[in-house]
Amino acid sequence: MKITVLSLFPGLFDGFLSSSIIKRAIQKELVSIEILDFRLFSQNKHHQVDDSPYGGGAGMVLSVAPIVAAVESIEGYQEAKKILLTPQGATLTQSTVKSLIEERDIILICGHYEGFDERISHFIDAEISIGDYVLTGGEVPAMVIMDAMVRLLPGALGNEASFQQDSFYEGQLDYPQYTRPYDFRGLKVPDVLLSGNHQEIEKWRQEEATKRTVARRPDLLKNADKKD
Ligand code: ADE
Repeated sequence: MKITVLSLFPGLFDGFLSSSIIKRAIQKELVSIEILDFRLFSQNKHHQVDDSPYGGGAGMVLSVAPIVAAVESIEGYQEAKKILLTPQGATLTQSTVKSLIEERDIILICGHYEGFDERISHFIDAEISIGDYVLTGGEVPAMVIMDAMVRLLPGALGNEASFQQDSFYEGQLDYPQYTRPYDFRGLKVPDVLLSGNHQEIEKWRQEEATKRTVARRPDLLKNADKKD
C-alpha cells in the first residue's frame, strides 16, 4: 500500500515516520509513505498557495490549482483514493479505517488556514474529520488515520492477537486489564484473573466490556449491527 500525504508542513511528519511501529512497517515494506509539499506546485512566483475569499471575509482560502497539480503529479493518482482532511468531513471510525486498508493507493490532503476552495470536491473521493473540533491543519488527522491503518496491516504489530481484542473490535469498548503488582496501595486485581479458569476469565471480560460500553458509550451498542 502506498500513502502520499500532501502537506505544507512536511517536517511535522519526521518524528511520526521514524518511530516505532510505523518505522518498522515501512522497513518491512508493508506500506510506503511519501510526504509531498504542494507549495512546490504553486504557479505563483511567491509560491503562494492561498488567497483571499471571494465575497470577502477574514482569513485565507487554499487555492485549488496547486493541490490538483500535486495530486496529478502522483503516479497512479487516478485509481488512488483521494481523501481531504477537514472538520466538515465524515467522522473517522474503526470501520472506515478497516475499509481504507483494502485500498492500494491513498492520497491524504492536509489543509491549513481557513479551508479549501470548494471546487477541490470535484477532484477527491472523500472528506474525513477525526472529530468535532478544529485543528490548525490536517497533518495530525493524517497521522491519526495512518496510525490507525498501519497497525491493522498484517505483520505490523508484534502480537497479531492484540488488535483482535481492541476497543471497537466487536463494537464494544475494551475490558479492564491488569498487570503486576497484585496489590497497589490496597487496590487489588480481580480474583477471577488469578483463577486460571480461562472460561471464567473470558466470561468476566465479556461482561466487563459490555458494562463499560453501556455506561460510557451506549451509542456503540446501538450502532453495533451497522458495523461489519
Ligand atoms: N483539519 C482541521 N480540523 C480537522 C479535523 N477535526 N479533522 C480533520 N481535519 C481537520
